[in-house]
Amino acid sequence: MNEKEFLEELKNHWIKNDIPNISFVNAKFLRDLIKIKKVKNMLEIGTANWFSTINFALELKALWYWKITTIEFSPNSHWEALKNFKNAWVDDIINPLLWNALDIIPKLKEKYDFVFIDGMKKRSKDFLELVWNKTRKWGIIIIDDVIKFKHKMLSLYDYVDENKIEHNIIPIDEDDGIMMIIK
Ligand SMILES: C[S@@+](CC[C@H](N)C(=O)[O-])C[C@H]1O[C@@H](n2cnc3c(N)ncnc32)[C@H](O)[C@@H]1O
Repeated sequence: MNEKEFLEELKNHWIKNDIPNISFVNAKFLRDLIKIKKVKNMLEIGTANWFSTINFALELKALWYWKITTIEFSPNSHWEALKNFKNAWVDDIINPLLWNALDIIPKLKEKYDFVFIDGMKKRSKDFLELVWNKTRKWGIIIIDDVIKFKHKMLSLYDYVDENKIEHNIIPIDEDDGIMMIIK
């Protein structure tokens, strides 16, 4: 089974089980950013059970063989993700943390050059605040689902405006769009 078939099979599993993974179009856009930026150390909030993390890891592995730390607080999702990471031969570059991101991020010692925020939407502003000092200068911070869930993320919109944090809202596909911040 090649990479495309493997990801399609995972995505079909999502459709059957109603798991809110990023779309193929969004995955392609984010993978292109990883490629252009030559990302070496990535942080993801909200693993769910695989799809986004495996996409990012395959890109990191193909180019630079570096790593991604991904945080998930649901044990069921975490354990399913671990199985899927092994099936995709990317478990060696993924550091999966079974934690509440709000508690573990302050304890992380590393700095990241790409942060993908896809956890509980109404906590997006808190996640952004927490990852700010963990993100390298010129690092990319992406926050997912900022258009369709804007009503749950008003504190995020207020926060970036009040703190004059430059950002772009980018519609990605018919599903939704992202907020992109270059630190
Ligand atoms: C939208 S899903 C993530 C989808 C995944 N990024 C993908 O595209 O394949 C959001 C996930 O974030 C997790 N989550 C929400 N808030 C969290 C928190 N505070 N700490 C850790 N995980 C969290 C949820 O359990 C859920 O699995």
